Amino acid sequence: MVFTELPYDAAQKAGFARAMFDHIENRTTDLADEVLEVDPRVYSDPELARRERAEIFGHVPILAAHGSELPNPQDFLTVRLPNNEVVLVRQPDGEIRGFVNVCRHRGARLVMDDAGSRRFFSCGYHGWTFAGDGKLRAIAQEQTFGSVDKSCLNLLEVPVEQRHGFVWVVDSAAGDVKIDVAEWLGPELDDALTAFELDAYTCYTTGNFDEDINWKVLMDAFLDGYHITATHANTVAPYFYNNVQDWRQMGRHGRVVSARKSIDKVRDRDPSEVDINRHITIAHFIMPNMSILRQPDHLEVLNFVPAPGKAVGTRMQMRILIREPAVTDEQKARWDKNWNILMAVLRDEDLVVNRALQQAVSNTDLRPLLFGRNEVANQHFHHWLRRALDDPRHWG
Ligand code: FES
Ligand SMILES: [Fe+2]
Repeated sequence: MVFTELPYDAAQKAGFARAMFDHIENRTTDLADEVLEVDPRVYSDPELARRERAEIFGHVPILAAHGSELPNPQDFLTVRLPNNEVVLVRQPDGEIRGFVNVCRHRGARLVMDDAGSRRFFSCGYHGWTFAGDGKLRAIAQEQTFGSVDKSCLNLLEVPVEQRHGFVWVVDSAAGDVKIDVAEWLGPELDDALTAFELDAYTCYTTGNFDEDINWKVLMDAFLDGYHITATHANTVAPYFYNNVQDWRQMGRHGRVVSARKSIDKVRDRDPSEVDINRHITIAHFIMPNMSILRQPDHLEVLNFVPAPGKAVGTRMQMRILIREPAVTDEQKARWDKNWNILMAVLRDEDLVVNRALQQAVSNTDLRPLLFGRNEVANQHFHHWLRRALDDPRHWG
């Protein structure tokens, strides 16, 4: 493994080691103040789903892509977001702009490909043509169409910003919405992501998984360090401690440090003398729907995109980001193996449990769901969502 050093000073690294040692020794984990009750209908209520799209996803930056997925001018990607399908287009100056993927004539889906490189986008229905900057260039047989102001028929645009190597979008073309990723992350998380040098990474693989599961069920599954033993007995449980988490709230967002079982080899040592990097994983949870999990030699990025127009449906996206582009067969084999392990864990374990959970919470007779004091990151997520919907001006 090629380890990337942890970007923390010696005192912080010793702090992580001490926190993990103490929790394992005492069979503890970081705790919330009390058990939280959550109405199971948060996973199925259509009205709540509508409000989440309008009041949260229509206002805050969410992950749309990694910059390395569209490296050159004229490269494009189509990305399904909660409110709109968006076409991201790399401009000649390196900026990325995003357009709602709908032809301004009669509403055909303009770009049918997932990705590619094009100077113009020509609609397959009647042949109207738009440039890479969204401008309407040509109306087919314009002399017969009648008089319209072409300058008012450009593609609808959503705010886009590149930061930390990612492409972020606010999923609204309302025009009065701005994007400010640093503000959204807040200074502590923004500094933490800068220290990770995220823009030095490249995206090795992306996978999309369309599931009949509410997006919060899936976000909950990845905030949760309490299910490893029961759900993942046959895969990762031998390598990770269950229910051992160091939680830090970072404004709206949060960070969880977890221990690998390999930490047992160094637990009798002085925390300040241990190379803790190889024995922990660090996950940053970015509200509302993203997680960046730092393994010692790569990053796993997950995001959960509510399917348009329904409560029970999510496109889950998974990415592996690596430091050095994989060129040789040997390098590719190594990352393919990582990907296949992740897929097995996800497909055969997490998704099986969570599909069934989604069906179970559709029963008629239910009582509140319980999030224990140990499920502190999940509690933060549900509290934050409630606050954001109660007062969208502050978003927690
Ligand atoms: S709908 Fe696109 S050209 Fe007619
Ligand atoms: Fe899991």
